[in-house]
Amino acid sequence: MLKLPSDESQVTTQESVIAPVIAPVIAIDGPSASGKGTVAEKVAGALGYHYLDSGALYRIVAFAAYRDNIKWNQADALGDMAQNLDVAFKQGDIFLEGDRITEALRSEEISRGASEVAIHPTVREALLKLQQSFRKTPGLVADGRDMGSVVFKDARLKIFLTASVETRAERRFKQLANKGIDANYDQILADLQARDLRDSQRSAAPLIQTDDALLLDTTHCSIAQAVAFVLKVSQKDCN
Ligand code: DC
Repeated sequence: MLKLPSDESQVTTQESVIAPVIAPVIAIDGPSASGKGTVAEKVAGALGYHYLDSGALYRIVAFAAYRDNIKWNQADALGDMAQNLDVAFKQGDIFLEGDRITEALRSEEISRGASEVAIHPTVREALLKLQQSFRKTPGLVADGRDMGSVVFKDARLKIFLTASVETRAERRFKQLANKGIDANYDQILADLQARDLRDSQRSAAPLIQTDDALLLDTTHCSIAQAVAFVLKVSQKDCN
């Protein structure tokens, strides 16, 4: 005979419900060209975590706007577009509507555009859920400007990774020179200073070091040392 569950078994069933696992997040925020992307990717690789390059999303918005003749100051049109982005991240490459745009996103023009579109709350709001959807087990390392302050406020570990603006300009200059790209150090320095100012002075989710973030200044340290530092504190933090 079919036996209906008693109240007791329902309680037991409820008690045995497994709480959803919330994947831990390591948030690495900092200014342009600080090396946070490289550090974040290496930390994610070492821990077997997923990786989110949130700056790439702002770059994609700037790129798509440029392609569709939307100006970087048209907040509403940018917000609408950002809500419906068809993007894919596959093995280090970035696709927009199926087209591979990985390198195009790294131009100085799109870097400036990303910083300009990022000031609009319409764009930031549109990208919020997309960024949060990257949080999956076993964990996520996310880099950007507001990972610890807005997108993943409950991150298990928050790092504010920076370096002097001159050091960052020098690194960017060498990076471009190594790729055979003609670059001007003074121009790079001026661009970085302008971007730092825009990223840290905007009213929506400005770049700030939150009280609970650890400062990691890489002016005098290598990428390997920075990665080792984050792994060390992440182990201390997670165990
Ligand atoms: O990290 P990046 O240089 O690729 O970022 C490009 C621009 O995107 C940056 O100048 C500001 C913006 N950005 C942002 O506002 N918030 C983020 N979480 C990431 C990037």
